[in-house]
Amino acid sequence: MKRMVHNIAVVGAGVIGMSCALEMARRGARVTIFDPEPAGFGTSWAAAGMIAPAFEAAGGAARHPRLLDLCLESGRLWPQFVADLKSDTRIDTGLVSRPTLVATITDDDRAAMDGLMAALLKKSVPFDLLTAAEMVAIDPSLSPDIASGIALPTDMQVDNRRLVLALRAALVKYEVEFIARRIRDHSADRAMLARFDATVWSRGHVETGLQATVRGQAFSVAPYAGAPRHVVRRGAHYIVPKRDRLVIGATSEPGELSTTTDARSIARLRQEISELVPSLANQPELEQWVGFRPSTSDHAPILGQTSDHDFVATGHYRNGILLAPVTAKVIADAVLDGTSSDLADAFSTKRFAAGPA
Ligand code: GLY
Repeated sequence: MKRMVHNIAVVGAGVIGMSCALEMARRGARVTIFDPEPAGFGTSWAAAGMIAPAFEAAGGAARHPRLLDLCLESGRLWPQFVADLKSDTRIDTGLVSRPTLVATITDDDRAAMDGLMAALLKKSVPFDLLTAAEMVAIDPSLSPDIASGIALPTDMQVDNRRLVLALRAALVKYEVEFIARRIRDHSADRAMLARFDATVWSRGHVETGLQATVRGQAFSVAPYAGAPRHVVRRGAHYIVPKRDRLVIGATSEPGELSTTTDARSIARLRQEISELVPSLANQPELEQWVGFRPSTSDHAPILGQTSDHDFVATGHYRNGILLAPVTAKVIADAVLDGTSSDLADAFSTKRFAAGPA
C-alpha cells in the first residue's frame, strides 16, 4: 500500500545515505540529511570504488546466501545510475567497465581462486580462466612470474570521490537539505525526528547493535607510464587505477579503531601488490589513509523497515559503493511505496531474530 510520506529524514551522509536521499527526492519526497561531518568524507572517501559483485560476494568473505544476487542486481543498475547522475550534474564519475584481473602466485592464491571459480560456476556468473601469458597480454604491467589468473567481466570500478561530489551536486539540485548535526538515536532526538514522516538510518556504525567495524588501511601513488590499466586483485589486496591516482589496498582489521596508518601494513600491501605489478615497487606515495567498513555477522547489509517510522540501510561492509543503487531502490520502494521484494526481504533485520551471532 502506498504510504503518505513526503518528508523524510536521512541520518548519515555517506554514499548509501546520499543515494537513498537522491532516489526518494527524485520520486518527489522532501528529504533532509543529517550528518555532523561533511557528506561523503568518511568510508565513501576512503573506499577504492570497486564495483565487484563476483570477487567480493562470491569469494570467501561472503556469508549471506543471497549476497551475490543482491550484488549482481546492483551491478546491473550501475550504468543507469551514473548516466542519471551525469545528466543531473554533468559530473563524469569515471565508471570503467574493463574487466577485473585476479592473479595468483602462491598455492594459497590458487586455492582461493579455485573457490571463487566454483562459486561463480554455481551461479552461472561469467569469468575467463587465463594463463600467465594471456594475463600479461591483457595488461602488460603484470609480472611474467604470476602463475595464472581470471578475468571478471562483471567487476568494474568507479571513482568513489567523484561519485561523492556528483551525489552532493545532485542532492542540491533536488533541494535536499543538509543539516550538520549529530543525531544520537530515536529517543534522544525525538522532537527533531517527529517533524518527519519517516527516518532512514544510514550511518555506517552501530545502528542496530548488529554491527562491527573492520578497519582498512590503503595508500595511493600518482599515475605513471606503464601502470596497470585494469583493477588487479590478489586475495584481499588490490590495485585500482584511476585517472588521478592508483589506489592500493587494503588491510582487514576487525575491531581496530585507530585512525592512523602504520608503516608496516602499508609496506606489506606494497610488497604483495608489487609481486604482481613490479613497477609499483618504487613509485612515490601520494597519500595513505584509514577507512572503517561497517560490517554485520554475515557480512551483508541490513535493509528495510524496523518500526512504523524507521528504516535502516547500513552494514554494507566491503560493498558500500557497489550496493548504493540497489539500496537506494529498496529503501525508496519501502519508504515511499510500502513495497518490497523477496530479495530485499532477505536483508531485513529479521534474519537476526535469534540475536547477533
Ligand atoms: N571493497 C574493498 C575493501 O573493502 O577493501
